[in-house]
Amino acid sequence: MSQQTVYDASQYIEKLRGYTASLAAEQGSAPKCFVLTFGCQQNVADSEKLSGMARDMGYELCDDPADADLIAVNTCAIREHAEQKALSIVGQYKHLKAKKPSLIIAVCGCMVAQEHRREDIKHKYPYVDLTFGTASLHRFPELLWQKISRSRRIFCPEETEYTVAEGVPICRESNYRAWVSIMYGCNNFCSYCIVPYVRGRERSREMHEVVAEVRELVARGYKDITLLGQNVNSYAKGMGYDFADLLSELDKIEGDFILRFMTSHPKDASYKLIDVMANSKHIAHQFHLPLQSGSDKILKAMNRHYDKARYLDIVRYIREKMPDAALSSDIIVGFPGETDEDFEDTMQILDTVRFDMLFSFIYSPRKGTPAAEMEQVDSKLTGKRFDRLLALQHDIALEKNQPMVGKIIRVLCDGPSKNNPEIYSGREEGNKIVFFHASPEDTGKFVNVKIDKADAFALWGEIEK
Ligand code: SAH
Ligand code: SF4
Ligand code: F3S
Repeated sequence: MSQQTVYDASQYIEKLRGYTASLAAEQGSAPKCFVLTFGCQQNVADSEKLSGMARDMGYELCDDPADADLIAVNTCAIREHAEQKALSIVGQYKHLKAKKPSLIIAVCGCMVAQEHRREDIKHKYPYVDLTFGTASLHRFPELLWQKISRSRRIFCPEETEYTVAEGVPICRESNYRAWVSIMYGCNNFCSYCIVPYVRGRERSREMHEVVAEVRELVARGYKDITLLGQNVNSYAKGMGYDFADLLSELDKIEGDFILRFMTSHPKDASYKLIDVMANSKHIAHQFHLPLQSGSDKILKAMNRHYDKARYLDIVRYIREKMPDAALSSDIIVGFPGETDEDFEDTMQILDTVRFDMLFSFIYSPRKGTPAAEMEQVDSKLTGKRFDRLLALQHDIALEKNQPMVGKIIRVLCDGPSKNNPEIYSGREEGNKIVFFHASPEDTGKFVNVKIDKADAFALWGEIEK
C-alpha cells in the first residue's frame, strides 16, 4: 500500500541556511558536505537525496572528507565485510574531527538501523554526532538541526511508521544515468537477509509519481534509467495496478532512452512482465534474477518460496520471448546446512542456465536473522566451493561474450575508464562493460561499437561512425 507523505522540511531548512550562512561568513567560503556511500543502488539513490537535502541547507558538495564541514556516511549491512568497511572509514574520521572540532559526522543507512550498531557507534565512536536509519532519510534536515540547536549527539531510533516521502530534493551524480526508487522496504524475510529488518515493510510510490519523474528525466536528456526496489514484482500491491502496468506506462514515454529495473524476485516474476518487456520499445532485454542456490532443500531453508523447477520455467519463458536477453543472477555459497550435494546442484543449474553475469557471495551470518542461528558450514569448505563456482562462471561468461566479437552494438559511453584515461568505457543493453577509444564529447551519448575482443568480464572494440 502507498503511505505517502510530502517532504516539507522548510522550517528546518531555513534555520540550517542561517547556520550555514554564518559558517560561510566565519570561514570565508560556503561550508562543504561530503557524502560517502556503501552498498547497493538503493543506497546510491538515497545518497543522491542526502546530497540534495544538504545542498538545500546551504552546503556545497565536495569530494574530499578533509574539506568537509559535514560528513554523511551512508552504510550497508548486507554482509559483515560491508559493516566493517564502514566502521573502519568512520574510525579514520576521528583525526578530521580533532583538526576541525566544528565538523559534524553523521552515520546513516542500513547499518545504523540496527540497535546494536547504534550502540557501537554511541560508545566506540564518540565523535559521531548523528545516526539515522533508511526510514528516517527524509528527516535529515530536522535531525541535523536537532543536533546543532541542542548541541548534543542524536541517535535516531528506527521508525515504526513507514512512509513514502515524495518531493525530497535529489542531486544526481550523472546527467545521463539515473536511479529511480519505485518502492522501499522488503516483506520477504529470506532467512539469511538483513534487509527487511533495516529497510522496513514494503511500500510503493504511486504510479503517477514514478511516471512524472521518468518523464522529466527523459526530457532532461537522461539515457539510461534504472527502476529500483528490493522486489519490483510486488510493486504497488493493493493499489490496483502492478509492476508490468508501470513498465507499460513508462514505455509510452517518447525519447531515446533505455529502461532497466532491479531486483526481480523469482517467486513472483510473471509471464505478463516478460511479455511487456519483449514487446517494449525502451526496456532493456536484461534480466537480473537472483537464484541464490540450485538446491531445493537450501532454497526452502532460505525461505525463497520457489524451487529449481519454477526458476527454470521463468528462464525458459524469458529466452523464448527474448532470445537475446542477458541474464544475471546472485548466488550465496556456504548457506547453513549446504552439503557437497547441495553445492553440486548449484553448479549444475549454473551449467544449465549459463548466466551472462553472476554475482557470488560467501554467506555472512547477520545478527537477528534465522540463518545466523543455524549450523554454519566450515569456512574452508565454503572457500573451496566459492573458487570452483568462480572458475565455472568464468568459462561460461567467456563462452557467452565471445560470439559478440565482430558485432556492432550500441553502447552508452561513460567517459574515460578508471584505470586508463586513454580508453573509454560504457555499457551495452545487457549492461556488460565495453572499452573503446572515444572523445570527451561522446560521454553520455550512445555510440556504436564494433567488438573486436571479448573476455569473461568485458568487451573491447572501436566506434563505428
Ligand atoms: N532484494 C534482492 C537482493 C538484495 S541483496 C533479491 O532478493 O534478489 C543482494 C544480494 O546479496 C542477494 O541477492 C544475496 O545473494 C546477497 N546476500 C544477502 N544477504 C546475504 C548474506 N547474509 N550473506 C551473503 N550474501 C547475502
Ligand atoms: Fe533480502 Fe530476500 Fe528481501 Fe531480497 S527479497 S532484500 S534477499 S529478504
Ligand atoms: Fe546494503 Fe541496505 Fe542495500 S543492507 S545492500 S545498502 S538495502
